[in-house]
Amino acid sequence: MWSYIALLFALTAVAEATEPAKHVVCYQGTWSVYRPKEGKFGVEDIDPFLCTHLVYAFLGIQESGDLRVIDPYLDLEDNGGLGNIQKFNALKLKNPTLKTLLAVGGWNEGSKRFSIVANDPEKRSRFVEQVVQFLQRHGFDGLDLDWEYPGQRHNLTGNNDRENYITFLKELRAGLNPFGYILSAAVGSAEFSASISYDIPTISQYLDIINVMAYDLHGPWDESVAINAPLYAGANDTTERAQQLNVDAVIRYWLDAGAPPEKLLLGVPFYGRTFTLASAEGHMPGADHIGRGIAGPYSREPGVLGYNELCELFQREQWTTGWEAVQQVPFAYKDRQWLGYENTNSLVLKAQYAMEHKLGGIMIWSLESDDFHGSCGGESYPLLRNINRVLFGRDNPTGLAAEVQPAATPRSRVGVEDYCHDTDGYVRDSHNCSKFYYCSAGSTFQFACPTGLSFDYNTNSCNYVDLVKC
Ligand SMILES: *[C@@H]1O[C@H](CO)[C@@H](O)[C@H](O)[C@H]1NC(C)=O
Ligand SMILES: *[C@@H]1O[C@H](CO)[C@@H](O)[C@H](O)[C@H]1NC(C)=O
Ligand SMILES: *[C@@H]1O[C@H](CO)[C@@H](O)[C@H](O)[C@H]1NC(C)=O
Repeated sequence: MWSYIALLFALTAVAEATEPAKHVVCYQGTWSVYRPKEGKFGVEDIDPFLCTHLVYAFLGIQESGDLRVIDPYLDLEDNGGLGNIQKFNALKLKNPTLKTLLAVGGWNEGSKRFSIVANDPEKRSRFVEQVVQFLQRHGFDGLDLDWEYPGQRHNLTGNNDRENYITFLKELRAGLNPFGYILSAAVGSAEFSASISYDIPTISQYLDIINVMAYDLHGPWDESVAINAPLYAGANDTTERAQQLNVDAVIRYWLDAGAPPEKLLLGVPFYGRTFTLASAEGHMPGADHIGRGIAGPYSREPGVLGYNELCELFQREQWTTGWEAVQQVPFAYKDRQWLGYENTNSLVLKAQYAMEHKLGGIMIWSLESDDFHGSCGGESYPLLRNINRVLFGRDNPTGLAAEVQPAATPRSRVGVEDYCHDTDGYVRDSHNCSKFYYCSAGSTFQFACPTGLSFDYNTNSCNYVDLVKC
């Protein structure tokens, strides 16, 4: 095992490389903790070393500008709640380089309340204030604004969402800056939609990270079967609109419109979309369908299959798989069920595309849909690890691994008192629970936990004071 000192040295060396560091921004749909059986996904299922940023999805917004905790029992520790947010942010004690973001919004939150708040200076400032307080109280590193989408999906015809979104971001930036918080946003992708919502050069000034949701480009709302997130346009994409519905067109649009590549993250789906075919004979892309296809046993939404669900399905049942060579994505079918999806091959190609275009990295929706148990016969988190291999040349961003030392600042070697007594491993200070020592081959290294934390023998890491027997 590496010593902590050698490790820090290596980390510094990585940080000093000239290229801007790539990001892997991973959303967790926190409601996935309610999924049945092997699909249940809680904070304990997150590997804190596989992403550079973890995003807690979602909190909501009220018309007053207040934040809305959607599931207080899950999210908070008050009144006997499960304290999921606290556990989520405690993952940073295991991986000291990890950043956590709070996502506000999402598809189900709709657009109307964002529009109302963004249109009113007092409501905007209330929102900014509430966000800062929430980030501080819960130990997040920033906000991810998920308004889907400015100027769309509501009927407040008097509001200038496109302009107000700029003002909203500008004021959020000003409110977050004193604390060094990150400001990111999830944005609609295709030109015909994004051009309604965003003044791209201006919003780019205020955002650290732009998560382009380059998925849901095709689905059962289309006339014929097509694949969720094709990398390139297909042979039959002849209309102007059809030619915008692929990853390459999306990224070229955002770059041409003035988004700085290093801020732009290519969002990729860890799920596929299913259709019910009109006839079992027509099973190639472009075939007729009659609507959504099957649901998965965990996500339980007709028309959607997470990668973990579809790879388990392929093991149980005989599906025929194919590769759309022009669009560079896989599809599969069985009888009258049809699926356009992603696998390690298509995601590696997308990650390579992000590298070739010098983008800031990859965003993934979402962790709970990877094969996080490794139940399909290979490693755990195969999709995420393969993306990391392209971006970092290894299966995790830092080279740190789960068994390494806790997040703490190493001090000097200890001279005064010998805590190690010929043993190796961690020893807590007998007078002060936030101090501890790491003993290795006769050397003693002294550490201090971040303020407000104590060393926890149960996890061999720093933890919240009220969770540690001291
Ligand atoms: C907006 O109004 C139109 C016409 O009245 C209606 O068809 C549509 O469903 C409305 N959209 C929303 C999001 O309320
Ligand atoms: C394009 O259309 C042809 C003829 O209908 C069809 O056979 C083919 O599968 C379609 N390809 C795609 C990618 O949709
Ligand atoms: C315990 O150690 C920490 C880190 O050195 C220090 O900040 C803190 O004041 C100490 N607490 C007590 C009660 O001495």
